Amino acid sequence: GAPIDVDLTPIADGQIVNVFWRGKLIFVRHLTEKEVADMKAVAPASLIDPAPFLGRVKDGHERWLVAYGNCTHLGCVPIANANGHEGWGCPCHGSQFDAVGRVTRGPAPINLPIPPYAFQGDTKVRIG
Ligand code: FES
Repeated sequence: GAPIDVDLTPIADGQIVNVFWRGKLIFVRHLTEKEVADMKAVAPASLIDPAPFLGRVKDGHERWLVAYGNCTHLGCVPIANANGHEGWGCPCHGSQFDAVGRVTRGPAPINLPIPPYAFQGDTKVRIG
């Protein structure tokens, strides 16, 4: 499929937007400063699928997560958690993901994958 461009200017701090590329759901998340700090503070080795913060976002654009939006267990769509939890919870079998899509509780075995994308300036990403 052709690449898609996502305009980041309307996406507020803390907001998550769903887009589709090649028929697949993708989350585009504008991380808050607090979420960035919290995610940087996580020790990768403590995770089920160890990944450093900068393996999940682009250097220089660390307020933005772009990740596939289907649970890596059996494909349900995780729901953004409320009540101060910064990640997502899967409604099907209870997997949890953090604010940059790293699995923090199974049965999901791996993090939400990152699709190919690149920034076009500071306010647009091209996915694909
Ligand atoms: Fe998400 Fe099973 S599909 S936990």
